[in-house]
Amino acid sequence: MTMTAPHGMYATPDHDELARESFVRELMVHVTHDLMPLKKVLYETKVKPNFVRANNRPPENRHEIRKAMEEEDFNQVWSALRRTTQEMMFDSIGESVERQLPDLIDRAEGLGSKYGTLKIDSDLEIPRYHTAVDIHCKPGGYHTEITEDDVFAGAEYDRSYNLFAMGASGPKNDDMGRSTARYVTKNYSDLDPKVIVELGCTVGHSTLPFCDEFPDAEVHGIDVAAPCLRYAHARAESMKYTAHFSQQNAEHTKFKDGSVDLIVSHILFHETSNRGLRNILRECHRILRPGGVMVHFEAPQYEHMPDPYDHTLGDWSTHYNAEPFWGSLHDLHLGDLMVEAGFSRSTIFESEKAPSVFLAENPDMRKFSRTPVYPVFGAQK
Ligand SMILES: C[S@@+](CC[C@H](N)C(=O)[O-])C[C@H]1O[C@@H](n2cnc3c(N)ncnc32)[C@H](O)[C@@H]1O
Repeated sequence: MTMTAPHGMYATPDHDELARESFVRELMVHVTHDLMPLKKVLYETKVKPNFVRANNRPPENRHEIRKAMEEEDFNQVWSALRRTTQEMMFDSIGESVERQLPDLIDRAEGLGSKYGTLKIDSDLEIPRYHTAVDIHCKPGGYHTEITEDDVFAGAEYDRSYNLFAMGASGPKNDDMGRSTARYVTKNYSDLDPKVIVELGCTVGHSTLPFCDEFPDAEVHGIDVAAPCLRYAHARAESMKYTAHFSQQNAEHTKFKDGSVDLIVSHILFHETSNRGLRNILRECHRILRPGGVMVHFEAPQYEHMPDPYDHTLGDWSTHYNAEPFWGSLHDLHLGDLMVEAGFSRSTIFESEKAPSVFLAENPDMRKFSRTPVYPVFGAQK
């Protein structure tokens, strides 16, 4: 068993590592696609009717549903399996990346900065919403450095994201970025962005598609996590992309007032605090030029999901996957927050759809996808 590396920085697993990783992937598919739908059957046929009998009304919100479901053996086993799979994913991939770490650091150094740039700010304070938890069970989160010039967290994320997405984000894990970039082209055909910033870029999976979609633009990716940014830069260099990565907090960046045409983010906000989210929206308003656009991809807000059972699915991560702000983020009314941040209500959009480009090209992968259509929100300044 071998595999082809998608780029020059990939921490390619050896035979045994790949066998372990493949087992975890199969388990992930089983837990997500075979077992998870059975929870809904359990809810509809047993848990909900019992609740109605006891309370003379159906459950009103995700909290009541979670409490009732937690009593069920099947749900307990599912939850334990899902959590265990998450831990096994990081255990199996982490060991393989650690084995290759000295070589990866040498490779990053060898690639240098022929095409793009990297700016690390070692004085940057990492927000408490990252230091207080190992976010989604990723040991050390995105920011922890285990050695000098470290790229561990980035190399591990690259492989674990592919496993988590069950391959449905494409070999370069870039489907989110390709799909939102296509959304911008379709919906803001006059924008012609010259400066583009991705907030919370991690390893640049979603940053580089903007170089392809807008070849004349200056493309930036910012993040608080140095090991991810070093990897992002080296990964981009290995694929000959000109992108600019810098260590910055999206709540207060170094971009000048009105200097950016397009701001994007992909699954950033559920990994910030509710206060962080408000600060980031205000910062977007500050750095966008008049007419500039922001487009953010996040799972839809609960106000756009009529069945409270559906709210429990993502909210599992709040309680069991060390993603403490998942639930409270999705309770917020983003439209009001964007207005508070300075955007005009007439330009705001929520729960718009950015269809997956990869799945349109590879319809056979649809069955593995968690997100065949990316819900986006944003506004034009
Ligand atoms: C789920 S990852 C985003 C994945 C990435 N956008 C992609 O498309 O592959 C969330 C990232 O946001 C970063 N992040 C969280 N809060 C941040 C902040 N306030 N400023 C900058 N980056 C932040 C984290 O370090 C992490 O790398």
